This record gives sequence, structure tokens and C-alpha cells, in this order.
Amino acid sequence: MAASPRTGAGLVCTGLTKQYGGVTVVNDIDIALVPGRVVGLVGENGAGKSTTSGMIAGLVQPDRGSMTIDGDPYEPRSPGDALKAGVVLIHQEIRMVRELTVAENIFIGRLPMRGGRVDRARMNEEAADVLARLGSRVDPRQRIDELSIAAQQEIEIARALSRKPRFVIFDEPSASLGKSETARVFDQIEALKAGGAGIVYISHRIEEITRLSDAIVCLRDGHLAARWDTGDVSREAIVRAMVGRDFTYGHGTPPEAGNRTVIEVSGLGRTGAFEGIDFAVRAGEILGVAGLVGAGRTEVVRTLAGADRATEGRIVVDGEDTVIRSPQDAIRAGIAMVPEDRKSQGLLLARDSMDNMTLPWQRHLSRRGIVTRSALTATYRRFREELDIRGQADVAVAHLSGGNQQKVLLAKWLVHQPKVLILDEPTRGVDVGAKMTIYAAIRRLAEDGVAVIVVSSELEEVLGLSHRVLVMAEGRPQGILDRADATPEAVMRLALPQHADATHI
Ligand SMILES: Nc1ncnc2c1ncn2[C@@H]1O[C@H](COP(=O)(O)OP(=O)(O)OP(=O)(O)O)[C@@H](O)[C@H]1O
Ligand SMILES: [Mg+2]
Repeated sequence: MAASPRTGAGLVCTGLTKQYGGVTVVNDIDIALVPGRVVGLVGENGAGKSTTSGMIAGLVQPDRGSMTIDGDPYEPRSPGDALKAGVVLIHQEIRMVRELTVAENIFIGRLPMRGGRVDRARMNEEAADVLARLGSRVDPRQRIDELSIAAQQEIEIARALSRKPRFVIFDEPSASLGKSETARVFDQIEALKAGGAGIVYISHRIEEITRLSDAIVCLRDGHLAARWDTGDVSREAIVRAMVGRDFTYGHGTPPEAGNRTVIEVSGLGRTGAFEGIDFAVRAGEILGVAGLVGAGRTEVVRTLAGADRATEGRIVVDGEDTVIRSPQDAIRAGIAMVPEDRKSQGLLLARDSMDNMTLPWQRHLSRRGIVTRSALTATYRRFREELDIRGQADVAVAHLSGGNQQKVLLAKWLVHQPKVLILDEPTRGVDVGAKMTIYAAIRRLAEDGVAVIVVSSELEEVLGLSHRVLVMAEGRPQGILDRADATPEAVMRLALPQHADATHI
């Protein structure tokens, strides 16, 4: 193991410690951001990665420990202090003002002024410049809430980089990005590194960590579990240090689905987004939806869940024609969706996990109209165990780690027991151990007779879970492959837009 630098150039953290409600979530961590080097930070959900990053970026105040920059004390009391010292954090959760434009978000707090007014022309021009450097084609005058999650994440990165930081922490930037966007972020990281920035890169994708980083630090239960020089360590060793067991995608073949069709969609379309979608899903069947970012996968499932309205086509649930104009319509028809953007669409952030799982369904959980505390607690305990949700039971979900928030969101819909469950990126931001837990839960759900639709940009995930895979490109269906035929090559062949060159993959 490489020794940890305690003094010298760069941002050096020594003995960082943080407690919440008597629980030590980060315990005596030493980590250094060295100019021109990338540290990969890994660890299970709740291991303390974001909390550590928060302390370095002035967002969280450490209870113990110290930090220096080039040997001088560094004690940020706020993100503003950190920024002044050249330290920025790119958050795991997108934190932008949805009602403002892209350019306004990039320059928030330092809008260019002219004659007492915001100089919009200059602001838009400079934002366009920053975005172009990132290879993004987003219009700076667009409102944030008009953009996809992937595009929003790119803006978050653009904003951080426009501040010309000396030290950058990327907290799982790739979780919501597609392959080509991720590649662009990697280019940025290489450029920052070449420019002498010190970088921390957090991800649950080990291939990214080994590819980008010079050294790897693994946290476990708030402790520093291991530290390696990247060339010296295997993927298996990293996973073992993180979760204490080996990971495989080896799902095996799922049990045969039933014969009863639960949902049938024909000619479904939404002007400007997608068209001509036909498929049927049987009870107990898992249908995967694959495609590149921008293929229209999320748009299709949002329409089924009532988040958007279809402009053409039919949806039949349990043999009945069903009109879905709102999420309430969808829920009434037995269709539920776990959205990709958990923060804005799925969780009551100020409530605890039990409330999040049970509040929407209290009527449903009640016997003879009375919801007993013990019934709620029993439900909560069951899913907490089934999905291995970590973190204190009584804290607001806002304070759970990213991956554990994802599990709470999933649990909420498992409690509801819908006829059709749609999962959009169900393991986004989830560690490799937790992934296996979630896969098992999805399988069990199908075995109970639910029709499941899974959208994921991780091809192995879609292929491993699904009975059949619908492949989309540019808003149109390209074919439905049976499990036996759904090899990664076959899917990619269909997923590539007709005129794209190979650099788009
Ligand atoms: N404000 C807070 N109040 C109470 N507990 C907190 C708070 N912030 C974080 N925690 C707890 O600290 C632990 C570490 O969380 P952290 O977000 O650092 O994990 P992480 O390694 O980033 O996980 P993930 O991979 O899921 O993002 C978790 O158990 C979390 O619930
Ligand atoms: Mg985190």
C-alpha cells in the first residue's frame, strides 16, 4: 500500500471525523488531493464518501481532523470559503434552480453585470463557451427543467469547471450519464489533471475508477479500509474490500412468465418524443428497454406512468382500454414507476424512510380502516431487511446516502404492489452489493405476478434481468429480442441510430 502524504503540496486531509446523532459515519480518514493526480474513492452505499467530500468542500463541518492546502491551514466554513480556496464539489444529486436558465445556473452568484443589470448577452456567450469546451450542445438560454437528467448533470459539471478550480471532487458524476457524455467528462478530467488540478473521483463503476485514477482509496463503514496505487490492484480485490464478497452479473435464467397479458401497448406515440411503440408484458414477465441516451426510453415509460401524455396509441391494462393522463390515472390502473430522478420525483425528503414507504399507501395497508403503528412498522421492517437499507431509521431521507435513498424509493413501490411496475435506472448510484439485492427483489416481484418494465443504460443489467428486450433508437422501436438472442452485440446493432458513426457509442 502506498503511504499517505501528510504534508506538502496539495490539499491534505488528516484524521477527518464526522458523527451524526452519536454515530460516527466518517472515522479518522486521511486523504490527499495532489496536483496532477486523480484519487478514485470507492465504498458501499453509506460508507461515508459524500460526507468526506462534503467536509473537503466546506459543506459539512468535521468534528475532528484538519486540512491544509500547500501546508497552510484550510478550514472552510461554507462552500463559498472552499470556492475561494479553489475547491469545488460536483454533487451526486443535481442541485440547480429548475426555474432558471442554463446560463443563469452556471453563473449564479456571480452574474456578469452592466449598468446595474445582468448582462445577458455576455452571460449567454460565456456559458456557451464553457459548454462548448465540455462538448455539450445545450442552449444556454434553455430552462434547466426542460433538460434531461443527463444534460442537467453536464451543466452541473460545466458550472464547477467554469470556476477554474485547483481541486475538484466528482461525486458519482457518471451515474446519470450515457457513454458518450461520460467520455466527455473523462476528457475534462484528463484536461484538469494536465492543468495541475488535484482530483477525487467517486463512482460505483470500478472500470471508471481503475481507468481514471492514479491511486484508489476504499472506505468501509466510515473507515479507510484500503489504499492502493491503481496499477497494483485487481477489480476483484477492490470489490472485495468494498463489500466483503464477490460480485457477478450471473443472474441465471429467470423463471418462466405466466400466460396472462397484464399490459399491452399499441401504436403509442408522443409528438416529438417517440412513435410506433408496440409491446405486451405478461404477469411475471420482465421486459427490458434498451437504447442509447436520448433514444426515448424514459419518455415512453413516463407516458405509461402518466408523467407525460401520449398523443396517439392505445394502452390496455388487464384487458381494459385505459386512458392515462396523470400519475393518479396510472396508479388507479395499477401502473407504478420508480423514476430515475429520485430527488425531484419520488421522495419526501424531510420525512423518514418509514413514512416514505408507507404514507402513500396507508389506506391500502389498513385493516378495517385503521392503520396501526405496528402494521406500518412491520411493513417497514420487512422491506428494510429485504432491500438491506442502511442508515438510521428515524432520520429524514435527505440525510440517507444516495444509494440508500434509491432503495427507499424502490421499497415504496414494492409496498404498493402494483400490477405493472416500471423501473427507470433502478440501480443508479447503488453499490455492487446492493445491486444484487435489488435484482433479487425485482425477480421476486415478477414471481409474485407483477409485470415489470426495466429501463437501464447498463446493458448487462437489462440483459441479465429481462425475459425480452425492447430496443429503441431515436424515438422508434428497433425490435424486441428474446432473452436467448439478446446478446450485447445484437442489442447495440439495433440501438445505434441509422446514420451514426461509431464514435457515438
Ligand atoms: N445530515 C445527516 N444526518 C444523519 N445522518 C447522515 C447525515 N448525512 C449523512 N448521514 C449518514 O452518514 C452515512 C454516510 O453517508 P454518505 O452519504 O457519506 O455515504 P456514501 O458513501 O456517499 O454513500 P452512497 O454511495 O450511497 O452515495 C450514512 O449512513 C448516512 O445516512
Ligand atoms: Mg454518496
